[in-house]
Amino acid sequence: MARVLHIEDDPVNRLLVRKLLTAAGHEVIDAESGLEGIRLAEAERPDAVLVDINIPDLDGYEVTLRLRGMPSMQGKPIVAITAEGNRETSLAMGADGLIQKPIDAKGFVALVDKYLAGHSERSERDSDSAEILRAHSQKIVGRLEQTVSELSQANQKLEANARLRQMFLQNLSHEFATPMTPVVGYLRLLLDQEAGPLTPLQRKCLESIHTSTQKLRSLIDTLLDVSHLETGRLHLYERDYDFADVVQRAIAETAPRFKQAGISVVCEDVPVELPARGDPDKLRRAMVHILDNAAKFTPRGSEVAVGVRSVNGSDHAEMRYQIIVADSGPGISPEEEQRILEPFYQVDGSRTRVHGGVGLGLAYARHVAEALGGGIEVHSPPQTSVAGRNLPGTAILLSVRARPARRESAP
Ligand SMILES: Nc1ncnc2c1ncn2[C@@H]1O[C@H](COP(=O)(O)OP(=O)(O)OP(=O)(O)O)[C@@H](O)[C@H]1O
Ligand SMILES: [Mg+2]
Repeated sequence: MARVLHIEDDPVNRLLVRKLLTAAGHEVIDAESGLEGIRLAEAERPDAVLVDINIPDLDGYEVTLRLRGMPSMQGKPIVAITAEGNRETSLAMGADGLIQKPIDAKGFVALVDKYLAGHSERSERDSDSAEILRAHSQKIVGRLEQTVSELSQANQKLEANARLRQMFLQNLSHEFATPMTPVVGYLRLLLDQEAGPLTPLQRKCLESIHTSTQKLRSLIDTLLDVSHLETGRLHLYERDYDFADVVQRAIAETAPRFKQAGISVVCEDVPVELPARGDPDKLRRAMVHILDNAAKFTPRGSEVAVGVRSVNGSDHAEMRYQIIVADSGPGISPEEEQRILEPFYQVDGSRTRVHGGVGLGLAYARHVAEALGGGIEVHSPPQTSVAGRNLPGTAILLSVRARPARRESAP
């Protein structure tokens, strides 16, 4: 009876080899990748190794080379099992032979036994120079193995971190959202004087609390939405709406911020009706984030220009509506144009620190635009004039798919 290490990623083949060899009284140790095979060869010291050529991380040739260099594998058979692998290469790497795939169940055990009994196709052709070459290659594969192993560990850590970040975001936004509900509810009750009349000072205090809570609430909503978007659980409503109307509402909502920042907003004439289908509330919030950035990064006394366009594709199904917000801010470097669309990314420097924010606005806007069949583009400086202005800063273009024209139903 022999202990045979079988390195193979395909579960069907693993099962077949296991069945055939155990029926003949051998013990089988399974490995699913090159690195695992090398580790098990070191730990288990098998009597023979069967290795598939096409396996994850290190391939069968590299594994053979590495195993052949191990003192514990001296004189032990290593056999490649492969459909398309090259016999000469396998032998040059130190294999004793090659068993052809698909495995012939009848003759398989006899073949393995032959190798276990000492048969080798390699010994006949091995020369000194081949031995030197092999020793040298073994060193290289040893280093390769180390690097691949480190990379795969680092990758596992990164994946675990990404999962943790997602969970953290999800938990955090839920934990924040829960206590907000009674805060907002009672504040409303107090402001409506349902708990008794308010003095002017009390009203002023409560209104100030109300403004801050709204900001906090909007941040929590964004956190919740981004967390849902990342896990694919953001629910977008499906209803008919007017893109032009959503633009008007987003502009109206942000008007006080521009006024406070001393920035004038110039708008192109918005078309009367731009029929679309999707979630107008989330779209409005996406636009507010973009307008908000323009207000944040544009210096006092300068301009922001807003335009609305219909972009025609080759047929009606490809028609898009677009809002363009051009500003007079500091602009964005080409390397950062894509990165600012990632969650939490903020361009370094005092600009961001002065203005605050968490770096979610554009990530949210991008996700929503994509979910509505469009996307976000960043142009810095703007490539077109908007509302007759050629502003020097950045233009953010958000587009969504237009509602396809309904077919007239037959009378
Ligand atoms: N119009 C703009 N001009 C210059 N830089 C911009 C502009 N818009 C976005 N940025 C850069 O992109 C970063 C990410 O923007 P984003 O809106 O996602 O986050 P934020 O504004 O920092 O925070 P939040 O929107 O969550 O309050 C900003 O921090 C800023 O560095
Ligand atoms: Mg922002």
